[in-house]
Amino acid sequence: MTHTIDSEDQPTNQTHNEHFDSVVQRILNRRGFMLKTGVGAAAVAFLSAGLTGCGGGDSAGNEAETPATPAPLLGFSALAAYTGNEVSVAAGYTATPFVPWGAALFSTGPGSSWAGDASEDAAAQVRQMGDNHDGLHFFAIDGKSDEGLLVMNHEYTNTEYLFANGVVDSEDDANKDLNAHGVSVVHIKRTAGVWAVQIDSVYNRRITGNTLMQLTGPAAGDTRLRTTADPTGTAVFGTLNNCGNGWTPWGTYLTCEENFNQYFGTTNTAVPGQTRNTTQSRYGLASATTERRYETYFARFDWQKEPNEANRFGWIVEIDPFDPSSTPKKRTALGRIKHENAAYAIAADGRVVIYMGDDQANDYVYKFVSSGIYIEGNLVNNRNLLDSGKLYVAKFNAGATTGDMMGTGEWIELDITNPRIAGYTAYTFANQADVLVNTRLAADAVGATPMDRPEWVTVHPQTKEVYLTLTNNSSRSVTNEANPRTANRYGQIVRWREAGGDAAAMGFEWDLFVLAGNPTIAQSNPLNAGSSNVTAANTFNSPDGLGFDPTGRLWIQTDGSDANTGNFANQGNNQMLCADPVTKEIRRFFAGPKGCEVTGLTFTPDQRTLFVNIQHPDVSRWPEGGTALPRSATVIITKNDGGVIGT
Ligand code: FEO
Ligand code: CA
Ligand code: CA
Repeated sequence: MTHTIDSEDQPTNQTHNEHFDSVVQRILNRRGFMLKTGVGAAAVAFLSAGLTGCGGGDSAGNEAETPATPAPLLGFSALAAYTGNEVSVAAGYTATPFVPWGAALFSTGPGSSWAGDASEDAAAQVRQMGDNHDGLHFFAIDGKSDEGLLVMNHEYTNTEYLFANGVVDSEDDANKDLNAHGVSVVHIKRTAGVWAVQIDSVYNRRITGNTLMQLTGPAAGDTRLRTTADPTGTAVFGTLNNCGNGWTPWGTYLTCEENFNQYFGTTNTAVPGQTRNTTQSRYGLASATTERRYETYFARFDWQKEPNEANRFGWIVEIDPFDPSSTPKKRTALGRIKHENAAYAIAADGRVVIYMGDDQANDYVYKFVSSGIYIEGNLVNNRNLLDSGKLYVAKFNAGATTGDMMGTGEWIELDITNPRIAGYTAYTFANQADVLVNTRLAADAVGATPMDRPEWVTVHPQTKEVYLTLTNNSSRSVTNEANPRTANRYGQIVRWREAGGDAAAMGFEWDLFVLAGNPTIAQSNPLNAGSSNVTAANTFNSPDGLGFDPTGRLWIQTDGSDANTGNFANQGNNQMLCADPVTKEIRRFFAGPKGCEVTGLTFTPDQRTLFVNIQHPDVSRWPEGGTALPRSATVIITKNDGGVIGT
């Protein structure tokens, strides 16, 4: 992702800055959205809006501030669609696997070597890298670009590879599975051009599905968060399904609990599924046993025995990676959803804004605005900023013109005093803690806009324009302006500009940055060919991971079909592309091995090392290949001439 802890880490020569005024001008010029020519009658509405195409560069305002013609933002040659079993990167770059699942963090004791046959037990797994690498962030040590803490999520497990017999069938198996989840903090250093783990560093740490953490904020201690083991409702063991991530300008890591529902089931098969309460149903808890069978070994994962334990998951967790003894904090003020990732912005008055997506078909986009203000360098002030504030959900309106894929939006506060929440008939909220535990139900109550699976959100480092991936939505039967296709198989990226450029504003303007599609095959729905910035050379589906680098390049990662045939012909494996937010040009930069998704990105402060994650490379059995166990891993990408990534 983009920011580093210290603003000084960012290049001072931001020749590609697109300032907020110029962004507004760009939209006023209606250079926003255009379909390809000749797409047919269904596109007339877009074309009639007077769109003039997606080229055209920046506004006059920006040019006045940067009179010299900048080098093109995208300086690399596009990568062809790739279908192989390795990783592939643009010419002039090198990609190297790093810290795969099972890699040791300590030189002695359990887990100090990788067995390679899934024979590790729970005690070994808890000292090795977890499974299914996802969001990650590089925290530079003393601002350096050759030493830091690489912190990453381990989203879930592939039990077929985690266990020799492929299933959880003992308590130790269940604990091993829990220990392969969570977060890794890895002290890494580059020497003579080669990055290596600092084995036995005091910073090396595994945070897992069994690690003690604290519930904080307005819902902490609420009756809905109390269990037999924890009558205080404040102490939870573990974080699960850690998907995307975020970070704060005060140097902490945010890990986001996504599909936590899959860990909670019941062994009491005599009770039918409809006994799940409204909360359990809205969040998708299983009506019977689960694949991982935690409920067989631990009462807390059986919702009939501990109905509130699942309420203690689905939060954003804040971790101080520089304090190995710190207790991770589940920040209830940010709401309980299937959190994809978290992206911060600082409001005009200094308050902290966190943008968040809820990754489920037809779920919503949120933002949190803190009560307190961020004060650079004041850790005491900043430490608990995420414990108090207001939570909002987004409504995307069609705006002045319907069908032009741009419009206006509003943020609706999720507060118990809102009459639509207080008077909601489908669920009776007891208090504000209840609103936070049941964030989805509160958002239902206020009429938020159902989206095509909100995935990652990211904030432009200069303009503060916000970009969000909507990955796909096979379940969409009713369209809206921002989600314009039924049975959406390709996905889109929406972006918005807060009123006055203030992240805490209550209104915004939005447009679609790209409507992903496939122009290389016949499409009965012309929208499925994609917007004009989708070409035969860059066609892709299912944008997911997303992040800006400090210069303002937009990096797009995919997690969709890599069938490379039919609707997905010529798209190749899942991949990472790079976009210019001004011209809207998109180029393929990197592709992963067959079967994987590409997810998570972070740069060193000098932007000369890029870390991305490869998740579930199962078909290819990457990186070893052959009959070896497939291992999720980080990939280190560098430019062969030592230059800035993307140039
Ligand atoms: Fe874990 Fe929505 O991706
Ligand atoms: Ca519109
Ligand atoms: Ca994802």
